Amino acid sequence: MTASVSYTVTGQIGNIVIDSPPVNALSRAVRQGIIECLKVAEADDTEVVVLRCEGRTFIAGADITEFGKPPQAPALATVLEALESHPKPVVAVIHGTALGGGLELALCCDYRLAAATAKVGLPEVNLGLLPGAGGTQRLPRLTGLKMAIDMITSGRPLSAGDAQAAGIVDEVSDDDLQQAALDFAGELLSRGAGKRLTRDIPFQLNDDDTALLSGARDTIAKRLKGQTAPQRILDCLSAAGTVPFEDGLKVERQAFEACMADPQSSALRHQFFAERAAAKIQGMTPDTEAQAVKHVGIIGAGTMGGGIAMCFAQAGFQVTLVDQDQEGIDRGLGTIRKNYDISVQRGRLSSDQVTGYLANLEATADWQALKGADLIIEAVFENLELKQQVFQRLDEICDARTILASNTSYQSIDALAAVTNRPERVVGMHFFSPANVMRLLEVVRGGASDDTTLTTAMAVGKQIGKVCVLSGMCYGFIGNRMLRHYGREAALCVMEGASPAQVDQAMEQWGMAMGPMAVGDLAGLDIGYRAREQLSDEEKGPRINYLLVDRLVEAGRLGQKSGAGYYRYDPETRARQEDPVVADIIEATRAELGITARELTAEEIVDRLTLALANEGARILEEGIAQRASDIDVVYCHGYGFPRFRGGPMHAAEARGLSSVVDRITQFRQTLNPDNWALAPLLERLASNGGSLKDAS
Ligand code: 3HC
Ligand code: NAI
Repeated sequence: MTASVSYTVTGQIGNIVIDSPPVNALSRAVRQGIIECLKVAEADDTEVVVLRCEGRTFIAGADITEFGKPPQAPALATVLEALESHPKPVVAVIHGTALGGGLELALCCDYRLAAATAKVGLPEVNLGLLPGAGGTQRLPRLTGLKMAIDMITSGRPLSAGDAQAAGIVDEVSDDDLQQAALDFAGELLSRGAGKRLTRDIPFQLNDDDTALLSGARDTIAKRLKGQTAPQRILDCLSAAGTVPFEDGLKVERQAFEACMADPQSSALRHQFFAERAAAKIQGMTPDTEAQAVKHVGIIGAGTMGGGIAMCFAQAGFQVTLVDQDQEGIDRGLGTIRKNYDISVQRGRLSSDQVTGYLANLEATADWQALKGADLIIEAVFENLELKQQVFQRLDEICDARTILASNTSYQSIDALAAVTNRPERVVGMHFFSPANVMRLLEVVRGGASDDTTLTTAMAVGKQIGKVCVLSGMCYGFIGNRMLRHYGREAALCVMEGASPAQVDQAMEQWGMAMGPMAVGDLAGLDIGYRAREQLSDEEKGPRINYLLVDRLVEAGRLGQKSGAGYYRYDPETRARQEDPVVADIIEATRAELGITARELTAEEIVDRLTLALANEGARILEEGIAQRASDIDVVYCHGYGFPRFRGGPMHAAEARGLSSVVDRITQFRQTLNPDNWALAPLLERLASNGGSLKDAS
């Protein structure tokens, strides 16, 4: 009927087929096509209509690229009305993922058949939205309230089997889905099954439901702190069970529009596209293909090497983990086993799964076992000479095509490449701790890294479930280079008068997963201390930036591992508590530097820390270290606990307005240490010509 939607007839069955790559989103053309096909099906001799999709998936939702633009008729609601008011029963045939508006459309069909491998879900909350096409009103009618709360506030999809158990799909098929659809429709015909609308299922909240909703409000207020969409979802679910269906739809429509207008949703939609854009490398030779990677070697079975090995073993790679001696191997393997045991105890993994993962993992001190590896990732101590020795040795042992990667946080990839005979096959793969949990992977382009090497590193990262961002070479790459500025401002806020708890509270209230002081305690205050010991006074910078940490470390307060750092930690629960001893150390440090404490507002703290990030981010962008501003946002949201609902430091700056950002930085330069607040030229330029960070790549 249209290029994206076609209609054919098989006997008494009308087939509507949507074919709109990549994910059959409900674009205007698809909406229009469905309506036209339904009209044809209404007029012909068929008795039942089957609606399915070509390609990799059933409809994956509304077309997100249309959001924020003027609406184009026909509206999705018109499509849904056409389905429900159609005189013939309609069967949705689901493969791949029926998500968001896709599942909502299926809920407006009379019957649902799913492939056993299919998933269904309402992930709108991940975009700061709620299901806006009746999902909050129809889903609870099928599943009951509890499942609807779980699915819609978490956004997590269900497998076809679970969806059937929950009452969302009628039948699950392991066989050829098209044949199964014809059989299913034939069965409906033979028993003369008619229309069956989800909206007609009675749904009334009882006392237990009301208690469930109020419990969910409290849990969500804590778990999804600061986020507006989840609470609005609960409002809609409450309406589903208290007012007539049509009124419930109106409540949902208003709440959906409120979400759409909320800056949180534009931030989350920005992240959605940012994560996908980050995977693309600019200027790549066309048709560059990733090299096949099956066998991965990892050098160093410590904190990072162990976590990286887990990632690969879990994704089905053959992993060889090498440490310097048996003791290192035993320690590394012991930690991996302990981590897996905890996951089994918590019910996150089954012991069969763990057995399978461990079977993919060989730990050895014999470097010859690395001979056939396709990719090696080095994660030994952060020492250039040692890393160079490792790279030299690997270069001798491994095939010429093997890619050699380093997990270094700070060393030059070029200095590592220089000691090999394959500089074009050397790259940085910078994971974040804990490597088996954190989703960020910075792929660091060395001066000689070739296209195949970079493409392979990005592809392998995706295979192990990471969000990959390309970084150019500079000290600290994208994330840690910016972090120094953030950390400095956090330290200065305390030296000038705030307490560590005040700084953490301000940032956590704003949305950071953890405040900077608590992060310092978690990572260990001694790390920076030991690194500083190697530096000259000049390299260390002004004492005010680090003196407090030095005093804490000298007092034996290394952070969580010693039970105390900026805070005192409960040995059992690890709960943090403010410690009067720290207040004394802070006061003494201020006195030593001649500082008189002043009051700092939460607003000042948040502005200083977030604008320090944006200012350095703008430099990183201008220098070409990051390919795009949105890549920096991905780094911060996935590697540093920056709230996704704020979009990342660059998006947050853009949303605030670059002129306001420049004014505030200028004010800081005038009132604080001017050396810390030199304005990034890119910000100045964009603010004065009304430009956008989006276009500044
Ligand atoms: N609208 C527009 N484009 C979409 C899209 C959507 N709903 N979903 C995916 N795409 C695009 C991606 O941007 C990407 O484009 P690119 O190739 O140009 O970068 C392409 O489709 C492929 O996407 P992925 O790289 O993510 O492919 P995967 O195979 O890894 O994942 C997926 C497929 C699971 C469908 C994943 O894309 C996804 O989760 N999509 C979003 C689903 C979603 O959030 N749906 C709800 C939308 S809101 C809604 O429906 C409102 C309604 O209630 C009114
Ligand atoms: P770690 O000290 O926990 O582990 C290092 C491991 O390397 C130890 O098991 C050690 O026995 C082994 N090793 C040392 N020399 C070796 C050699 N010659 N041959 C084989 N094995 C050898 O260190 P961690 O924290 O895992 O760091 C490793 C690398 O990862 C460093 O470059 C670090 O900068 C980087 N990194 C660390 C992060 C962190 O948060 N810990 C985060 C991101 C990167």
